[in-house]
Amino acid sequence: MALWGGRFQDAPDDAMRALNDSLRFDVRMALYDIKGSKAYAEALAKAGVISEEDAGRIRGGLHLVRKEIENNQFDFQASDEDIHTAVERRLIELVGAVGGKLHTGRSRNDQVATDFRLWTMDAIQTIDKLLHNIQLALISQAEEHTESLLPGYTHLQPAQPITVAHWLMSFFWMLSRDRERLQQAYERTAISPLGSGALAGTPFPVDRAWLAKELGFNSHSQNSLDAVSDRDFVAETLFALALAGTHLSRFAEDVIIYSNPLFGFITLDDRYSTGSSLMPQKRNADPMELTRGKVGRLVGHLTGILTTLKGLPSTYNKDLQEDKESLFDAIDTMNMLLPVVAAIIQTLKLNTDKMRAALAEELLATDLADYLVKKGMPFREAHHAVGQVVRIASERNCNMSDIPVKDLQTISVLFSDDVNEVFNFDLAVERKNAPGGTAPQAVKQQIQAAKDLIAVNNDD
Ligand code: ARG
Repeated sequence: MALWGGRFQDAPDDAMRALNDSLRFDVRMALYDIKGSKAYAEALAKAGVISEEDAGRIRGGLHLVRKEIENNQFDFQASDEDIHTAVERRLIELVGAVGGKLHTGRSRNDQVATDFRLWTMDAIQTIDKLLHNIQLALISQAEEHTESLLPGYTHLQPAQPITVAHWLMSFFWMLSRDRERLQQAYERTAISPLGSGALAGTPFPVDRAWLAKELGFNSHSQNSLDAVSDRDFVAETLFALALAGTHLSRFAEDVIIYSNPLFGFITLDDRYSTGSSLMPQKRNADPMELTRGKVGRLVGHLTGILTTLKGLPSTYNKDLQEDKESLFDAIDTMNMLLPVVAAIIQTLKLNTDKMRAALAEELLATDLADYLVKKGMPFREAHHAVGQVVRIASERNCNMSDIPVKDLQTISVLFSDDVNEVFNFDLAVERKNAPGGTAPQAVKQQIQAAKDLIAVNNDD
């Protein structure tokens, strides 16, 4: 029986039910619904709205409902519109009419918001741990490669030599901001709407602060109209996930490019590579492509919730039922994806010989300009002079270091024999030693800062 059948003569049409019912997805919140109801029964008793005995019977009944659900013995019925309806229906079956007192002063509007916030709070913490694991994998690979070099790119064109650790650690900091964003989303999720009623609040003196604390919220909401329709926590969590996904997608893109044989910098472990049904030689980076691909749906979910919210009139509207599937899917997607990304990083084979072989002398053109700068030339002129050196090298089809010093001196008299010291990749990298730079020394400090940030125990 529906919770609201009193004023209707006809039962809802089947096709309308299929559209209207949310049980098939909100069943995931069952344990949170029961937890919320147990606390609410107690709050009603504390407020003197129901007797302690009634509250005890309701809580006992809810306990049985929980056991049935946990043991997969709960008999869902076609008339169970959503998880709230199902739990209350079963409660009344188990404890009788007293179960009907539970919903006093409560609406599914504050109830669903409560359940969904509790669900989201746990989900955020799960995702946070998985992101933390990826950070640990990045750190441990980076520690092995503070001295290994590879070409750094801008515009995907060779730019300057960098250390492998520096490249890996760049993703650490992106994920660190993602985790901050998730924690901030958590803070705004952990606000209890329970006790807001349908929209206007409750006339029963339930202790909202006690309810909030009992359920693990940090505080309770200040405006019931806002509380029943605030889905900022959904949008914010989806944004944090979409942006974290975007970062991982960019990492995946690097890995895909670097594992192309033309680069050959990286080999994915066999366990995370796929072959082709037709071409025997193929070694594809499917999980990285899926990382890139799955982020499309995360961004889609974010766009979806914002679009759902943007035109809603005040307080609860059924549109808000659309909030759940997208966040469920985004969390499921991340739960599936993040452990694989961590494992890929942990097992990544970094072909440092190939990386070094790809270091072309042109990556040192800026260092050559800096050489002139150190001899007193303004950088802008030095840039121009080195441009001429690059042109001569390309005309002669040789390296810059092959050009005789006397030829260089026709460009600038500041060139002398010591110019040869410029053409050393390791020294070029070592010079980028300011904090945040790519020099091994600076990167080691960076790794230490990263470890301090996430409180990695150095002994384990
Ligand atoms: N299944 C609904 C949802 O997910 C629960 C709230 C229903 N409230 C209502 N007034 N019809 O939003």
